Amino acid sequence: MFDQKQTIALQEQTSSLLKHTGNMPVSNLESLRNVLRFHEYRYYVLNDPLISDFEYDNLYKELERIEKKDPSLITTDSPTQRVGLGLIKDFPKVQHLVPMLSLENSYNAEDLYDWDRKARELSGLAEIEYTVEPKFDGASISLIYENDLFARGATRGDGETGDDISPNIRQIKSVPLSAHFNEYGIEQVEIRGEVLMNKSNFKQYNERLMEEGQPPLANPRNAAAGSLRIKDTAIVSKRNLEGFLYHVSYITGSNKRKKEIPLTHSGMLDMLWELGFRSPKKEMQVVTGIEAVISCIQNFEARRDDLPYEIDGMVIKVNDIALQERLGMTSHHPRWAIAFKFKARQATSKLLSVSFQVGRTGAITPVAKIEPVQVGGVTVSSISIHNEEYIREKDLMLGDVILIERSGDVIPQIVKSMPELRKGDEQLIRFPTNCPVCGDALFKTADEAVWRCININCSAQVVERIIHFVSKDAMDIRSFGEANVRKFYNLGLFKDIPGIYELTIQQLQGLDGFGEKSVQNLLQAIETSKTQPLHRLIYALGIRYVGETTAKTLAQQVINLFDLKGYSKEKLQQMDDVGIKVAGSIYEFFQNHDNLLMLEKLETLGVKMYKEELSVTVGNLNGQTFLFTGTLTRLKRSDAEERVERNGGKILGGVSSKLNYLVVGEDAGSKLEKAKKIPAINIITEEDFLKMLPT
Ligand code: IVH
Repeated sequence: MFDQKQTIALQEQTSSLLKHTGNMPVSNLESLRNVLRFHEYRYYVLNDPLISDFEYDNLYKELERIEKKDPSLITTDSPTQRVGLGLIKDFPKVQHLVPMLSLENSYNAEDLYDWDRKARELSGLAEIEYTVEPKFDGASISLIYENDLFARGATRGDGETGDDISPNIRQIKSVPLSAHFNEYGIEQVEIRGEVLMNKSNFKQYNERLMEEGQPPLANPRNAAAGSLRIKDTAIVSKRNLEGFLYHVSYITGSNKRKKEIPLTHSGMLDMLWELGFRSPKKEMQVVTGIEAVISCIQNFEARRDDLPYEIDGMVIKVNDIALQERLGMTSHHPRWAIAFKFKARQATSKLLSVSFQVGRTGAITPVAKIEPVQVGGVTVSSISIHNEEYIREKDLMLGDVILIERSGDVIPQIVKSMPELRKGDEQLIRFPTNCPVCGDALFKTADEAVWRCININCSAQVVERIIHFVSKDAMDIRSFGEANVRKFYNLGLFKDIPGIYELTIQQLQGLDGFGEKSVQNLLQAIETSKTQPLHRLIYALGIRYVGETTAKTLAQQVINLFDLKGYSKEKLQQMDDVGIKVAGSIYEFFQNHDNLLMLEKLETLGVKMYKEELSVTVGNLNGQTFLFTGTLTRLKRSDAEERVERNGGKILGGVSSKLNYLVVGEDAGSKLEKAKKIPAINIITEEDFLKMLPT
């Protein structure tokens, strides 16, 4: 959409505008908006930012300042108009300009041969040109632009009418609020596409749900669809949704045009891309004949897991739009397009029994044993069913046939039960009233869905807390592992977390499976863990609702862990993503006498409680930006990233012209390809990287 000349000009404008933040004259308003739109496009559509978040924020704040001073200057497509719309009362129903049909599904090559044969018979052509593009697994949307401005966005609904979710669509930064359709003589246009939550945002979102004691969602599709129905735009904005637009369904306009409206689907995707939309132009291929379509699908399926978002198949479309019109549609589907569905990551199984596990916070989690079944390449034989409310919502009974899904690398989840298949001998799932381990009575507060054992000395909780403390993402005491923690605890070698640091050679020598070498390794790993970064220690403490992300936020705020003793709930709540519940839990943890005693004991035993100042002026990677790709063999990815930061460098989120070093491990993929096209990036091996670090 922006050629090289425009890019250079906009980058120059950016530099000059940045010099005037704080007192920019109104005469710069249009230039400022253009520059912000350009950087949004670089960031959200191309995934290749040219300025830092800090610089973007400064420019954005400047625009806000100018518009606040004189609100009559605000336009509906100003970058500020994505946020601040607040609460939506209800979603009005709206009629689509053209009904949103779904596609016919195909599952194998045979289905595709049949479909192609019919299309050739109807058209009289020997061979047809097709496009093949991903079938995005999200929520479908339909957008209308009028006179170049975003006018309305709607859900699919029943295909004829949907919900007007315009304020939420405005939160999706890859959807432009204005686009130069007038260059094509287009006055009104309806565009279709899909809203997605990418895999990494979905993972983070689910982690947060679990930190808050809520069941995670089964797949990113549900997360995207659910997010579009939220009535608070500020929350929608935080979900970081993305929009792919892949079909122009309706156009009105005049013949006064600078550019011709494309006559092919691939041309339409080019046009949308040129206009600033994230169309699947780069993911789409044009091929002739169905054989080529099939091989293209096979290639794509092999790369499915490398994509940053979920796809559930491919969509094959007749490229020539005139031919699409000639082929028309059946009562349900267009004849010119078909979906090819990949192997399902869902499978049916049977719920056999339920056991109740006690977690480190005393939460009782029902875990269902199911008939073992293959889903997405792994065998699943047990599955968490979270809590009583979840069991009720999903209508689960012992003996039920259930549908389960394993989406990407997310833990398998139950999608639904199938009550219509019940035979009458299914049984209710009964919750225990007492802790299955210590026998104490269980409690549940009104605002929580989980039952808890509140005996903090309950051995199940103590063991789970220690297991969590030593785990890979926490203090990472290798060679400990769950089984050894249980074994040592049962042998009475320790009874709490500080006990880990009091283990002696004498205690371990002669234990079954512990030779001299493994005793040494374990004690060394325990010793090394004493200097883990502060955020790992905070996470390792297992404070309720404090996952890795929150632990990092906390570690950024303080120098010494004990500083948190002095934090009020209000002060905690001022931190990013720390709400009332999380703040309350952190506050209580640091006011609890027993917890403080434990921390003091850990400190006495040599565990580092403070943060080494990350100085950006002393490290030898000072100011340099890094990104890792592929599998590293010598370092763990998180350790490598920590070492960059400790030495004054910065980790970037993606390959862009701002990247100084791409460190390439084994099996590197698209990041490497992208980096090769940017001469300024130094592409180095893990060995080269290690040499850059201080010895
Ligand atoms: S084309 C009239 N292209 O899959 C043609 N659909 O059952 C409109 N979908 O409802 C659809 N990726 O929500 C098309 N690249 C893609 C798609 C796609 C996902 C969804 C869409 C549609 C459903 C098909």
